Amino acid sequence: MKTLLKNCKINNTIQNLLINDKIISYIGKNTPACNKEIDINNLTIIPGLIDPHTHIRDLKQAEKEDWTSASNAALRGGTTMVFDMPNTRPPTVNLEYLNLKREKAKLSKVNYMFNIAATSLNLPEVIKILETKPTDVAALKLFLAGSNSNEYVDDEEIIKQIFNISLKYNLPVIVHTELQKCVEEYSEKIKHPSVKDHNYMRNRECSIKGTELLIKIAIETGNKLYIAHTSTAEEIDIIKANKNKCKVYCETSPHHLLINKEILETAKNFGKVNPPLRTKNDNKRILKGIIEGTIDTIGTDHAPHKKSEKLKIYNEAPSGFPGLETSLPLLLNEVNKGSFSLNKLIELTSLNSKNIFNIKKRGKIEEGYFADLTVIDFNKTWKIEAKKFNTKAKYSPYEGMTGKGDINMTFVNGKLKYKQTIN
Ligand code: DOR
Ligand code: ZN
Repeated sequence: MKTLLKNCKINNTIQNLLINDKIISYIGKNTPACNKEIDINNLTIIPGLIDPHTHIRDLKQAEKEDWTSASNAALRGGTTMVFDMPNTRPPTVNLEYLNLKREKAKLSKVNYMFNIAATSLNLPEVIKILETKPTDVAALKLFLAGSNSNEYVDDEEIIKQIFNISLKYNLPVIVHTELQKCVEEYSEKIKHPSVKDHNYMRNRECSIKGTELLIKIAIETGNKLYIAHTSTAEEIDIIKANKNKCKVYCETSPHHLLINKEILETAKNFGKVNPPLRTKNDNKRILKGIIEGTIDTIGTDHAPHKKSEKLKIYNEAPSGFPGLETSLPLLLNEVNKGSFSLNKLIELTSLNSKNIFNIKKRGKIEEGYFADLTVIDFNKTWKIEAKKFNTKAKYSPYEGMTGKGDINMTFVNGKLKYKQTIN
């Protein structure tokens, strides 16, 4: 089956793109023979987004999200590959539980990989998984603090062991760098907390110290360290200063770039997330970190919870909110505003993840690559209305926000899986 996408804007040039089964087989000005034509009408095509940071849930938390709802959300958001985080129920701590997840993930409409949890208790199990040479494992995930329900590690020796194991199997370690003891100390200081205290209780110092510790270990062990959802100006400075001393990579989230604690006035617990929303000054430093190249990737940290849970009082409401459907529209709006270029967006949302996590034949628009493609309409305006989301988590701290630049089509493995309808 040969599908010809006609009149695509790729690298600022109008070209035709031929998909032969799943693979891009031609890009250029010619009109090769095909079974089917789709006119892209001069819209821009970018590589489908690779999101290294999603919580797909399913299994015992399918009421929060499952692979069908999450992958529909991904398609709507122009994302063609997700990495699923291991803090599911049951958690991805051994081969048996990984295999349960593999069964559920067969329903996914987008490509996927798994991040495996590494704790003080499961290192032999991790090795057992890695000895099978899995092609669907992207990285090991390490939490330095509890964040909802995960196990955390606070022993430096164990952290080093985790780094050495992942080095042996050539996998990066993704780290949630907030330090548990630090979070506990700050949390104890507030007797009757509300969501406005979240940024103080999970204090910036806890993320900063964790990042410093991890960089020290990355220098010692030589392994790839991928810092998840970087939220503070100080961490960006530290990472920048150490990029030439170790293999440190920096992810931020759309919400740490674009919103801050001020939004909690209206968003309340819908904006409760770990690490917390910080300050306007952090937003600015994160943007600068993107432009100067300190920040490598944007991961959504799509973390769906039930709306009824998020409506509970602060202490009882879980942290996290959905992000798969809002991320790319928000980022395209920034490109339209001139905050950064489309090429920078492509680096952040696909190319750099491809390189960091060694993903073969995806993450680029090139002959021989899988046709994972996102068609962009830079002139389409939007308003965020969570009730229209595909995710089961129908709320958002961005509710009511407007902007320009949206997803028009999403292709996965050469198949058109999403097309925007006029609304
Ligand atoms: O806000 C968060 N939610 N941060 C995390 O680290 C975990 C996530 C979740 O799984 O809900
Ligand atoms: Zn997360």
